[in-house]
Amino acid sequence: MTGPKSRSIWPLKPRKSTITNVDEKGLQYYIDGKGQKVYVMNLDSWWLKDFKREDVIMQLPGVVIMNTKPWHSDDIAHTFREAYGIPQDEDCDDCFAPGDIEAHIERFPEGQFMAMRISGPGAGHAIALAVTMRTSRPPTAPILPWLEAIGGLRLGNHEADGDWLYGVEMAVASTYRRHGIGTGLYEARFNLARGLNLRGWYAVGMLMGYHKYGDELDVLEYGNKVIAREIKDPTVTMQMNRGFLPKQVVPNYVDEPAAGDAGVLIVWENPAYEA
Ligand SMILES: CC(C)(COP(=O)(O)OP(=O)(O)OC[C@H]1O[C@@H](n2cnc3c(N)ncnc32)[C@H](O)[C@@H]1OP(=O)(O)O)[C@@H](O)C(=O)NCCC(=O)NCCS
Repeated sequence: MTGPKSRSIWPLKPRKSTITNVDEKGLQYYIDGKGQKVYVMNLDSWWLKDFKREDVIMQLPGVVIMNTKPWHSDDIAHTFREAYGIPQDEDCDDCFAPGDIEAHIERFPEGQFMAMRISGPGAGHAIALAVTMRTSRPPTAPILPWLEAIGGLRLGNHEADGDWLYGVEMAVASTYRRHGIGTGLYEARFNLARGLNLRGWYAVGMLMGYHKYGDELDVLEYGNKVIAREIKDPTVTMQMNRGFLPKQVVPNYVDEPAAGDAGVLIVWENPAYEA
């Protein structure tokens, strides 16, 4: 093939004679012969150009929790599938795609959270997500199946003035569990409910440990034993330990074989709510 050689706009290294500077975001650059800033690509810092310190809500060792931004959407969609063991290329009617994540941010930016590594080889990548919407439907109303409750994958039922938070989704990538990331994401949502002076927050916590008891118990029996703290469920018991009150088993909530498709209605009432 003939034609001019392609030139990268991100030279891997500055020329020897140039002096490298660092801008306010930590990106290296040098000034070329025409007085222009030329950024130096560093494989570990591709994400710094989008990252803003003021977006960080909480810092854990090597990880930050922040509101999800459009540049996270591919990673979030990937993390969601990984967390539920759904192959990345498999057809999935209830998996969030990057466009859905962007729609959530457009509808309710303060309600979308993610955890991102800020050091090591995975720096800049998402490792957890929490998707939230507002609703005026109280937790005492009949609980609808997941997709109907949220109004489709783009949260068509989000009500900007709804006085309850509804937990649409929460997932931590499998290798990052039991490091306090889920707890951090819950804390961020509790703070949001307090900050918006909402009545509280509810969700259906999936009975993700049911598959281990499927031969002995039906899902209703299993769920009631989890509520009574006779069995520890990796998801619902964790939620009960974070301050949610378990109310009732919700069968046929969403297609999730590990949970027998069922969850438990969990409710947190905001003690600081002022009518
Ligand atoms: C449920 C889920 C979100 C929890 O996330 P997580 O990051 O593992 O949560 P945490 O690490 O904050 O807490 C989990 C447990 O680890 C413990 N833990 C936290 N940090 C720890 C540490 N450094 N060492 C040991 N244990 C630790 C917590 O105390 C908690 O146990 P407890 O409830 O007995 O107190 C995660 O397991 C997940 O994504 N599961 C699959 C998808 C899912 O079920 N989503 C929810 C649908 S409703």
